Amino acid sequence: MKKPMVFVARHIPPAKLALLQENCDVDLWDEELPPPRDVLLARSAGKDGILSLLTDMIDAEVMDAAGSGLKVISNCAVGYDNIDVGEATARSLPVGNTPGVLTDSTADFAFGLLMAAGRRIVEGDQYVRAGSWKTWGLTTLLGEDISGATLGIIGFGRIGRRVAKRGRGFDMRVLYYDPLCQDDPYAMQIGAECVDYETLLRESDFITLHMALNDETYHMINAETLSKMKPDAILVNTARGAVVDQEALYHALKNRVIRAAAVDVTDPEPLPPDHPLLSLDNLIITPHIASATVKTRNNMVQIAIDNLLAGLSGEKLPHCINPEVYA
Ligand code: DGY
Repeated sequence: MKKPMVFVARHIPPAKLALLQENCDVDLWDEELPPPRDVLLARSAGKDGILSLLTDMIDAEVMDAAGSGLKVISNCAVGYDNIDVGEATARSLPVGNTPGVLTDSTADFAFGLLMAAGRRIVEGDQYVRAGSWKTWGLTTLLGEDISGATLGIIGFGRIGRRVAKRGRGFDMRVLYYDPLCQDDPYAMQIGAECVDYETLLRESDFITLHMALNDETYHMINAETLSKMKPDAILVNTARGAVVDQEALYHALKNRVIRAAAVDVTDPEPLPPDHPLLSLDNLIITPHIASATVKTRNNMVQIAIDNLLAGLSGEKLPHCINPEVYA
């Protein structure tokens, strides 16, 4: 019997590829960089399924290119701002994502960035390597206490909650802002307080971002909101680059409107090498690796495959972003 044809937009672990090949005729873009747009369009043509990454823009043009045989789009990420879900839904196309398996690894990393910025760990490493370390200094690289500080979490979904738990473990006062999640029982159980946005900006020593990127959250952190933060505030972003107005962040860091930032995500990714943000010593920047552990990435690929195979065989996706397609 003819196997369904799928386009897989990036290298995946060999064992996972073998699993896919058992069930599908796989057209693999086996490169480190994402497929260029023309390749994505050409290689999607005639496919029954697409396994995409968050770097691949899957919109009406790609769906048109794939044609009427397209049965499923499986995104190997929990975020799906790279997919025009409305367009997929209008075409009754299920879209899958990979929630749950990256929650703890991402929360760990966000907390790691928070600590690295607060305690100046990256600066300390650079200071030693540069040969600047001459003796134990009473005022060398003074940072901010984590324990006892106030942690503000924007977006109290899966990852935000786990960061809250870590914050409580470090004896932090934990505030959260999430219009979709007021007086949450889990927050009450761990002692996190639901506050309005202004209160969170005003009272937090550390602010960490865990909202999805959408029209409401685009540039939610901007010149105005940065100016409302404490002068010693530290901003952490492991969500999406575009939830922060990066030009405003640059000026806020340069002019010490806030103390420091640590970001795992930028807009675009990567930043051009001469981007002004890269000139700042009070910014830590990492290459979108918050979920990058061996176990998590394997699990993400497995879920993406499960979603893809379910969609190809007409079954409900285990993790479907637009379940209304089944209504
Ligand atoms: C996601 O899955 O959306 C993450 O950003 C990848 O780490």
